[in-house]
Amino acid sequence: MVRSFFFLILFFLPFHLLHAQPNVHPQSNEYEWPSDPAVKKKLDKWQDRKFGMIIHWGLYAVPGMIESWALCSEDWIERDSTQSYDDFKKWYWGLSRKFDPVKFNPEQWAKAGKDAGMKYLVFTTKHHDGFCMFDTKQTDFSIAKGPFAGNARADVAKYVFDAFRKQDFMIGAYFSKPDWHTEYYWWPKYATPDRNNNYDIRKHPWRWNKYKEYTFNQVGELMHHYGPVDILWLDGGWVRPLETVNEEVRSWGAAIPAWSQDIDMPKIASMARSAQPGILIVDRTVHGPYENYQTPEQRIPEKQIGHPWESCMTLGNAWGYVANDQYKSASQVIHSLIEIVAKGGSLLLGVGPGADGTIPSEAVRRLEEIGKWTSLNGEAIYNTRITRNYNDGDAWFTQSKDGKKCFAMVCLKEGAAMPGKVSWKGNIPKKGSRMVLLETGKAVKWNTDGSAVNVSLPASLKASPALAFSFDVN
Ligand code: GLC
Repeated sequence: MVRSFFFLILFFLPFHLLHAQPNVHPQSNEYEWPSDPAVKKKLDKWQDRKFGMIIHWGLYAVPGMIESWALCSEDWIERDSTQSYDDFKKWYWGLSRKFDPVKFNPEQWAKAGKDAGMKYLVFTTKHHDGFCMFDTKQTDFSIAKGPFAGNARADVAKYVFDAFRKQDFMIGAYFSKPDWHTEYYWWPKYATPDRNNNYDIRKHPWRWNKYKEYTFNQVGELMHHYGPVDILWLDGGWVRPLETVNEEVRSWGAAIPAWSQDIDMPKIASMARSAQPGILIVDRTVHGPYENYQTPEQRIPEKQIGHPWESCMTLGNAWGYVANDQYKSASQVIHSLIEIVAKGGSLLLGVGPGADGTIPSEAVRRLEEIGKWTSLNGEAIYNTRITRNYNDGDAWFTQSKDGKKCFAMVCLKEGAAMPGKVSWKGNIPKKGSRMVLLETGKAVKWNTDGSAVNVSLPASLKASPALAFSFDVN
């Protein structure tokens, strides 16, 4: 009874509370372009992809609760007050004895992603709770050691990466720098008052060195035994050298320890790049050579940005699986994708498979609907680059990489009747240019009125989240 009450609290916790949290980071303009030609090449390839899937899958899928965070004792986190913090932790760690995803089906995930028009993957190999979704030698706290150990696909990350590679996705490994399970980060000798490591590194350098080794070895395993990996997506920006703590970091409102949580990124990066030449490293929020693209979270930057970036956003309200999650409409997702791409970014959309190993059917349906649009209009999204004039009201613009074609995408209100014409200002087609409505592949009539472009639409169009047009520009 107490347990089920507790579940109710965590499962139906208002998500806005969890999102008004000090772990949602604003985004900065400080960016350092990579100099390694292999990294530059991969970055360009990644910038062609535009639309990816981030999968949060771990212990938290078992009860269907928010990923990891309830383990952390910061006061924005809600937990059942009738259970002690210690009992909660014990219960949470014990989920590792229950996680047996017998229907684990990464082919279903990859197909759903491909159907949506997604072209790259980021998968949680380890979240902050420290539970590994790969067969690590550094700890027994992994999917490959619990009830799922006997399964032929117990080394989960391997099969996830393989399934997505088969669908031509670029492959990204999400890896949490903080690890709340290992005694090298949260030493059981002391309380764990917040997200940070809970001992003074200056007094206990041995323990921190063990932590560095632990982290280095795990990233090493991922870099050496899991085939080609394109992106190392490092979460948990509070694990960073003290000298990189700036106003932006302070604005998260989280505790900042007096010591440096430096895990030696140069060493990790050079190991990663010798195993995976050109791999993109995304050391989130730590601006500099290991943040090859920036990652605003659950939001779209106000203006176009000239350097590489990606908005990560959830399809539902939560990153991982929670029962009865409310999913965004296909139209909302398409509108975000269009705006993001016109502003120079990519959209990384979050999906959470359940404890059985499948993506909930409603999420799959949503992804299919999204795919109906991307499959017809992809030319305006994939392999495009930004234009100087990128927005006018509901119209957003991109251009082909060679600059010969311009694309206009006009977002339409969900449920509204199809208009007979659309117009925008700027990005005037070249005189005599053929303008094609991408969803039909047919030419449409257009004219100009000063700086306005007016396009007449055929009467037979079915409702769509957005209309995309291609035309030549001067
Ligand atoms: C936030 C959340 C973290 C999640 C990440 C994904 O940082 O705190 O749990 O994995 O977003 O972008």
